[in-house]
Amino acid sequence: MSLKRIFEQHPERRYIMFGGKGGLGKTTFSAATAYWLASQGKKVLVFSVDPQASLSDIFERDIFGKGPVQIMENLWAQEIDADQHIKQYQNEIRQKILDMYGFDEIPEEIEQYIQAASAEPAMEESAIFDAVVDIVVEGNYDYYIYDLVPLGHALYYLSMAKVYDEWINKITKLREEMREYEEMVSRLKRERELEEDAILRELLYIRSRINESSNILTDREKTAFFFVVVPEEMILIDTQKAAGLFAKFDVPISGYIVNRVVPRDLLRLEIPAYLRNRIEMQDRYLEQIGVMFSDQVVAHVPELERDVAGLPMIKTLSEIMYAD
Ligand SMILES: Nc1ncnc2c1ncn2[C@@H]1O[C@H](COP(=O)(O)OP(=O)(O)OP(=O)(O)O)[C@@H](O)[C@H]1O
Ligand SMILES: [Mg+2]
Repeated sequence: MSLKRIFEQHPERRYIMFGGKGGLGKTTFSAATAYWLASQGKKVLVFSVDPQASLSDIFERDIFGKGPVQIMENLWAQEIDADQHIKQYQNEIRQKILDMYGFDEIPEEIEQYIQAASAEPAMEESAIFDAVVDIVVEGNYDYYIYDLVPLGHALYYLSMAKVYDEWINKITKLREEMREYEEMVSRLKRERELEEDAILRELLYIRSRINESSNILTDREKTAFFFVVVPEEMILIDTQKAAGLFAKFDVPISGYIVNRVVPRDLLRLEIPAYLRNRIEMQDRYLEQIGVMFSDQVVAHVPELERDVAGLPMIKTLSEIMYAD
């Protein structure tokens, strides 16, 4: 099974993610895949929430916090700036408070509360989460490639989506019950019908967005999630553990891609013992990978002669990854 075949056989899988431990090649594969799909005539967005701005690095363009930036024909890249979103969030909250309660300005205590809440790490997470929801729900591209942050963090997002969802379910339910009660009271008092409940509306809206996005990201039909591994012992142990956790969050795994495989044709040349030993070591782990993940291994990607950055290098890699 080749990567190219997988994409050709499953055109409905439009949400592509590369997960794995830090530094193994997630951003590199995201960019190469985006490049390949775009050159096949598909409209592609590759995006990340990584504050390290690694898409800016690989495309050699400053795109951080600038919305979707066109890289070449059919290809857009976007890096979410969480801080910018938090500021936007704060303003929206201020505006809602002003509208809802008819204040002329935000009372000092509330302003302090908004400031304090924004310093919470959870605020950053939810700003990022919200931005990702915005992107995937929009639906303007043929493919969305989500260049994930290292494993632990990605798991944290997924678990947060679940917690968030449950939390909102509880609140909406409570709010609905309260509303029924309020309606009853107002009928008894013969007051006019309650105005539309702005808070309930807001909560229902948030819930529908969360459902929509977590449905997309865990939908076997629409999503392809690839695990990046390298032939090294520690990576294999960690990956196996992580794969179990991802399964728990219902993330469908489409395959494992083995990166940084030293080209075997070097063995036909006079090469130093050092390199020969490394190849032998990799052989051992490649065998283990075969046993562990068997037919789920969908590609072996060679270690290139230098880092992957800039479009010509991305193109070279994409041609290797998506060869027939
Ligand atoms: N097959 C390869 N050949 C040569 N260099 C590679 C290869 N794959 C990845 N690299 C290089 O390894 C480095 C790390 O890759 P990359 O940034 O894609 O990892 P990552 O998984 O996105 O890391 P992070 O977890 O920090 O986001 C980069 O400098 C990249 O150019
Ligand atoms: Mg990365």
